[in-house]
Amino acid sequence: MSDKFRSAVLRGLARRPRRIPCRFLYDRRGAELFDEICGLDEYYPTRTECALLARHSSEVAMLLERRRPRLVEFGGCTPAKARYLLETTRPRAYLPIDICREALANYASELSRERPGLAVLPIHADFMRPFDLPPGDGPVLGFFPGSTIGNMPPEQAIRFLARVRHQLGRDGAMLIGVDTKKAHERLYAAYNDARGVTSAFILNLVERINRELDGDLDLRNFAHSALYNAGRGRMELHIVSRRRQVVHVAGRAYRFGCGESIHAEDSHKYSMEEFQALARRAGFRPIAVWCDAERLFSLHFLQPAS
Ligand code: AVJ
Repeated sequence: MSDKFRSAVLRGLARRPRRIPCRFLYDRRGAELFDEICGLDEYYPTRTECALLARHSSEVAMLLERRRPRLVEFGGCTPAKARYLLETTRPRAYLPIDICREALANYASELSRERPGLAVLPIHADFMRPFDLPPGDGPVLGFFPGSTIGNMPPEQAIRFLARVRHQLGRDGAMLIGVDTKKAHERLYAAYNDARGVTSAFILNLVERINRELDGDLDLRNFAHSALYNAGRGRMELHIVSRRRQVVHVAGRAYRFGCGESIHAEDSHKYSMEEFQALARRAGFRPIAVWCDAERLFSLHFLQPAS
């Protein structure tokens, strides 16, 4: 892991604009901070999506015509969200996919203890890369919550969904949580929270570089910046250098101008129509979409088009 992190950071710091893939934000500390973000007042996605699942999971079971699915969760380990689908769709098996072996194993054994009747089959994989689903009966219901799909640029999201569509097979379906476009102030607040948890989450990447790659970046010389890029329809999260400085990582020197940044994460937002159009381009047919009264968040139910 540290090897992949090392080459990604060295490559990311050498290119212009500087950019490090966002998956490296989610180490153990990063995952903890992200959990904390999910409970913030300003961060509406988590509670809004949970409310949508509470309200509409029984419709998901109906759309599956009551056939008991195999529930495959992309980036598993979100028990609060999977719970609703476990109850309404009564899956034959629950297959959470996660890149973190440890988190996955803990989650699977906890869940098996809580629900002795449920077959839990954890899949240790990076779901951004091709992987095999074990064979089994029943339609596959893919569940991709949290608007994690927003981390990918649209073209990559289409490629990802097209690949997933093949994995699901003809009678499969996909349930995806997607953050919507909305007033910029609302988006801005969600990524610039008053308590500074988002800032700590983004700047944890700096600490991780220092810790794991023998870096000498001074945290006081970097700041978190989150701005809405209206042209691309996304929040962009950056680590900004507050001054001219030279830093060292793994024995190499990197020069920063004042205001120069490392692009650390993107969060794409889609109107419901935009996301349905994207899903169609990946070979899906949008069957249903649900959202809250304020249209803050959406939940899309998709089936393969043919
Ligand atoms: C995990 C990608 C869905 O984009 O809202 C939240 C990540 N980063 N606050 C999001 C995130 C900072 C989150 N996703």
